[in-house]
Amino acid sequence: MPAIELHGVEKRFGPVTAVGGVTLRVADSEFVSILGPSGCGKTTLLRLVAGFESPTAGTIRVGDRLVNDVRAGVFVPPRERRMGMVFQSYALWPHMTVFENVAYPLRMKRVSAPERHRSVTDVLQTLGLGHMAARHPAELSGGEQQRVALARALVSNPDILLLDEPLSNLDAALREAMRFEIRELQRRFGSTVLYVTHDQAEALAMSDRVAVMRAGELVQVGSPTEIYDHPVNRFVASFVGLVNFLPVLLVDETRLEPDWTGRIRLRGLPAEHAPIECTLPRRPDRPEFVLVVRPEHVRIEPGAQGWPGSVIRTAYGGEREDVWVRIGPHEIRVRRDARDHRIRAGDTVGVRVAHGWFLPPETHRAR
Ligand SMILES: Nc1ncnc2c1ncn2[C@@H]1O[C@H](COP(=O)(O)OP(=O)(O)OP(=O)(O)O)[C@@H](O)[C@H]1O
Ligand SMILES: [Mg+2]
Repeated sequence: MPAIELHGVEKRFGPVTAVGGVTLRVADSEFVSILGPSGCGKTTLLRLVAGFESPTAGTIRVGDRLVNDVRAGVFVPPRERRMGMVFQSYALWPHMTVFENVAYPLRMKRVSAPERHRSVTDVLQTLGLGHMAARHPAELSGGEQQRVALARALVSNPDILLLDEPLSNLDAALREAMRFEIRELQRRFGSTVLYVTHDQAEALAMSDRVAVMRAGELVQVGSPTEIYDHPVNRFVASFVGLVNFLPVLLVDETRLEPDWTGRIRLRGLPAEHAPIECTLPRRPDRPEFVLVVRPEHVRIEPGAQGWPGSVIRTAYGGEREDVWVRIGPHEIRVRRDARDHRIRAGDTVGVRVAHGWFLPPETHRAR
């Protein structure tokens, strides 16, 4: 049985459709991220699941319980949904100490004082906050406040955790450490997590599945590798990582198994230029398609065979180097190991594509 099941869930605020007909199943103990740009409806979706908003259409189930059914007029209030939520702004009570903030949900449930004390002390220890129990939120760093909010969500041992951009206010190092910490807590408690973020690296690193959201709708739901390697459209491809879109023409096929390999020509180059060999997970449906290729899958070498390109600019990035290459009317971004011999603006290079993905030609728009 799925832990959370949304069917045709819609939320309108007057003329604004914040969530437009979302259907999603989250399995028990699964970690699913909702990934999308600002304003696409992520927080609204999470608040609908929590019960802080009522949908204008659709049904929501939590376990075997129907918690929302717009037609039948069913609405189960948040406190009966057995969920913990970390809000985008943390929403800690400034007048309460760390201990009191974390104890609050238990007080609401009329848990006895000794038991409350034990549970709160436990969760504060787990999150490394034991020595801060007596402080107020204003006396904590952003990262510490974030952990208090997490402790408050975890203290009543909820089946489901709803986390709304919980790491967005942290510095890069702490953000990465907290990714592992949250994932570890989720495994230990066996919780089901719905995790909202606009950070693609976070979604890819943490999730069992990622649901990519745009303008109130889920455009693709899949494992991190499916989303990254086989995006369904331009939006997903460009939102989840860096990408090049190249209009190409299939010349012939050189291998069909296990992966499809063919020789392809780049459109807009003189007809006599040599086609390159490229591997795709399956044969494209049509000879004309848009090659979707990540910068790290493009190879360039001075004077080597391949599509003829000239280097426009380079950017050194520590362990890697980004290189922009012009090939006829196209510009392509390449990411390579910075320890390889340096390439400089003006160099002539041969461009090859190790492997990629494809989209139908009509989804390609000229830059
Ligand atoms: N209470 C409300 N009344 C009217 N419009 C709202 C309300 N809440 C949200 N919206 C609108 O619904 C849309 C989705 O908002 P939401 O907060 O869910 O986006 P989000 O994806 O969480 O964005 P962000 O990444 O910036 O947090 C936005 O256009 C927003 O202005
Ligand atoms: Mg939000």
